Amino acid sequence: MVLYTKPPKVRIVEAVSLAGLSDAIAVPVVKDGEEPRLLTSEGIPSQLGNAVKEAAAAEVFKGDAETLYTVAVEGKPYILVGCGDEKDVDAERIRRCFGVLGRSVAAKYRSIGLALTGLSEELAGEAVIATALGAYMLEEFKVTKNRKLEEIVVAGSLEEGYVEAVIEGVYLARDVANAPPHMLSPPKLAEAVRRLFQGLSNVEVEVFSYEMLVREGFGGIVNVGRGSAEKPVLIIIKYRGGEGDPIAFVGKTIVFDSGGINLKPSQGITLMRADKAGGAAVLGAMWAIARMGLKANVYGLLPAAINVPSGESYLPSDVIKMWDGTTVEVGNTDAEGRLVLADAIAYAAKALGAKTIVDLATLTGAIVVALGPLLAGLFTRSDSLASEIEEAARATGERLWRMPLVDDYKALMTKNSPVGEIINVAGRYGGAIYGALFLERFAHEAEWAHLDIAGPGIGMEAGQVAPPYWPSQLAPGYGVRILVELARKRSQG
Ligand code: BES
Ligand code: ZN
Ligand code: ZN
Repeated sequence: MVLYTKPPKVRIVEAVSLAGLSDAIAVPVVKDGEEPRLLTSEGIPSQLGNAVKEAAAAEVFKGDAETLYTVAVEGKPYILVGCGDEKDVDAERIRRCFGVLGRSVAAKYRSIGLALTGLSEELAGEAVIATALGAYMLEEFKVTKNRKLEEIVVAGSLEEGYVEAVIEGVYLARDVANAPPHMLSPPKLAEAVRRLFQGLSNVEVEVFSYEMLVREGFGGIVNVGRGSAEKPVLIIIKYRGGEGDPIAFVGKTIVFDSGGINLKPSQGITLMRADKAGGAAVLGAMWAIARMGLKANVYGLLPAAINVPSGESYLPSDVIKMWDGTTVEVGNTDAEGRLVLADAIAYAAKALGAKTIVDLATLTGAIVVALGPLLAGLFTRSDSLASEIEEAARATGERLWRMPLVDDYKALMTKNSPVGEIINVAGRYGGAIYGALFLERFAHEAEWAHLDIAGPGIGMEAGQVAPPYWPSQLAPGYGVRILVELARKRSQG
């Protein structure tokens, strides 16, 4: 499965063989009262219990959350993973502490053993996922490669297929989101997607070329992408795993967003290589869902384009005709995400018959102003779909906050355009809501939700507040886990 970065393999073994099969062994440590103690003892040399007490007495390691301490026993490094007070240990705590572990071992060991027999299946799974995610390094474009970790050897019980699928999905999403634009131009991305799913009989990949998009009237995708020499495509991944109504995931895949003729300022513009984070998340989730073989029908749509100014670019004040026939005045070429998404969402609803559509998009700077870099904004009319997504977010630690769809603001869409049916921008205020209202029109009869992931999708500016299982200065692959969880719950339900 690899685009660039090979995820570590996960291997489950008996606790007694952990030391023999890994370069170093990590053991979670909790505090009850002031005393730190090993959370897991099965297969662990008894000297380690004493070592914890000594480290505590010498005040070098107290079991605090997100701290590590290494002790050698019989020549093997044992890494104590501080998880803090036992009563506070939950999934997010485990993710953060093992994220710290992953970061610290990525360039040090070929294999890391995790002693997790003292953890529930859920927490053990989160520990393994977080170790792998913390160890992610994007080195495809480096000459000197430092990453060593190839294998995570686990003692404990976990849902193996799920854990590996999530790790692979998030690695894939990170590779795509962070790729330099010309390494993954729309046609190159389409080729890569085809190759990824080749040989999976229940997955079909369809690519609409630029010529087809022109012929079929996908005015949103065509116009946003036409300024670039690398023309836009629409990538459709169809996973058929069961009966029942199909659900569609649509991801904004702007390979680079310069703003177009409404050019962005230089400050921070390099972050816009991750304006494909929505599409990256959809791709990663489709991979994980197919790998797990979920009993559900899921479609992934990636409208991919490069938004740049040129003699062939679309222009502010152009009126473009969308796939569903709506005419849109281009008030601003930098509000391009909603144009490519509108075509893909309408196509999912009307041509593919998706009954539920969830789109993910790095859509607006306004949502980052409102919620900061860690949370996505969730927009939907459906309380039941909102609950499903909120539940998935809670379970996976991918945070979001529900935002309102304010009907009164819809008037801005029509009133402000003297020449088109609607216009793609309104004023400065409520920008994220306006973007969501614009998309909603194109979902037609389908149940629809929109996640504005401009903050956590890009992630790079989260800096000191980013959780340790996010890679520093890179897009974290946000959204893969929510989509996988949503599909998983639906397939069980
Ligand atoms: N990709 C940007 C949104 C964005 C900004 C994502 C910052 C992540 C960080 C989007 O295409 C855009 O430029 N939106 C404009 C919309 C405006 C012209 C209505 C924005 O947010 O300023
Ligand atoms: Zn833009
Ligand atoms: Zn954009």
